[in-house]
Amino acid sequence: MNKNSISIVILAAGKGSRMKSPKAKVLHTLCGKGMLYYIIKTSRQISDDVTVVVAHQKGAVMTQVQRYFDDVHFVVQDAENFPGTGGAMKNIYPKNERVLVLNGDMPLVTPKSLEGFLKNKSEIVMSIFDLQNPDGYGRVIIKDGHVEKIVEQKDASATELKVSTVNAGIYAFSRKILEKYIPLLNNNNAQKEYYLTDIISIARADNVEITPLLVNEEHFKGVNSKKDLSDAETIMQERIKTSLMESGVIMQLPSTIYIEEGVVFEGECIIENGCRITGNSRIINSHIKAHSVVEDSLVKNSDVGPLAHLRPDSNIEDTHIGNFVEVKKSTLKGVKAGHLSYIGDATADEGTNIGAGVITCNYDGIKKHETIIGKNVFIGSDSQLVAPVIIEDDVMIAAGTTVTSGTIQKGSLAISRTKIRTIEDFFYKFFKK
Ligand code: UD1
Ligand code: MG
Repeated sequence: MNKNSISIVILAAGKGSRMKSPKAKVLHTLCGKGMLYYIIKTSRQISDDVTVVVAHQKGAVMTQVQRYFDDVHFVVQDAENFPGTGGAMKNIYPKNERVLVLNGDMPLVTPKSLEGFLKNKSEIVMSIFDLQNPDGYGRVIIKDGHVEKIVEQKDASATELKVSTVNAGIYAFSRKILEKYIPLLNNNNAQKEYYLTDIISIARADNVEITPLLVNEEHFKGVNSKKDLSDAETIMQERIKTSLMESGVIMQLPSTIYIEEGVVFEGECIIENGCRITGNSRIINSHIKAHSVVEDSLVKNSDVGPLAHLRPDSNIEDTHIGNFVEVKKSTLKGVKAGHLSYIGDATADEGTNIGAGVITCNYDGIKKHETIIGKNVFIGSDSQLVAPVIIEDDVMIAAGTTVTSGTIQKGSLAISRTKIRTIEDFFYKFFKK
């Protein structure tokens, strides 16, 4: 694909009031990334000239985009004087003769699904699909085999509302068509907005060639509400998991697994049912057991779960993490933590065993402190390590010990227990048996 042959404009300036959210629509996320991330990623695979039109919450939108892409241009729409998708197309100066216009609320488009728009050289190419429930979309009015106009839902007559052929919201134009017709758009409609879609009827009156391309909803679905967002996320999840399984990841009951865009798997990995793996996690030759959560963490040659929680910045290598173990911002290498522990702001080294119920008390109410555990340390069950604390190599911590701040020297035993007291026959006296 010649990357320089078409310019792309992504419309992302709208409020998205149907989202019923204080957050601009395109900032909403699916599979861990904002809606715009996906459409820009697709666009950058096709073109070197990508413009994103912003206005509503423009600072936040631009920051989100710049987190992932440093090579897109921004144009700020004058949304006060020229609201609407047509208003968004003012002040656009594409480099190329052909311009692909994409609505920013279409995260499911892929380079392959856009091929038809790149090949066809009609003055105007537009996308249509037929829907059982066309609610919310602009209706496409076709007469004698020609597209006559697009009527927005709010402007449609009762007969027009019954039309099930709708505008999917993607168009390819020749640049001169945009230069000629965008200035002619007006806002004489129900929403008092400048509709890009009016370009169709104006151009048609001039006998401009308009080619409709039939597309599918799986790639061209517009996300306008939180229900749409969840439907789009389901489709995106399917894609992510299918591609991971094709590249060798084993998943048990994949319909119950949630994996965000950007998670990396290497080697042979098994993911059991109910797991959630997010952020920039990297899983290498590891087994994540049922209902575990892994966030922004590295798991290498290890097994985790069932029901474990790795919070951000956990580095787990050659380690066994068992059920009900929570790890946060900790590095564990060659460690066993089989049951019911909290390990936060800690490091632990080879051969160390962390018994059931061990807690790193990393927070003193004001600050977080570190726990450093050496090699071959045996930490007995139900011990608390009150950070900051250093436990050197070859140490034993007796079950039930509270280790307070300081260093436990190499090779020693730390024990803090009250002496046990037994009272004979107490049970029988108490229950009068
Ligand atoms: C739009 C189309 C409709 C089509 C549907 C497909 C218009 C007038 N209508 O409707 O025919 O069926 O997409 O999904 O184009 N935006 C701006 N500036 C604005 C307003 C919107 O940049 O002033 C952006 C939005 O951020 C969004 C995109 O344009 O990404 C589409 O806007 P939206 O409000 O979702 O339009 P729809 O009502 O879905
Ligand atoms: Mg929309």
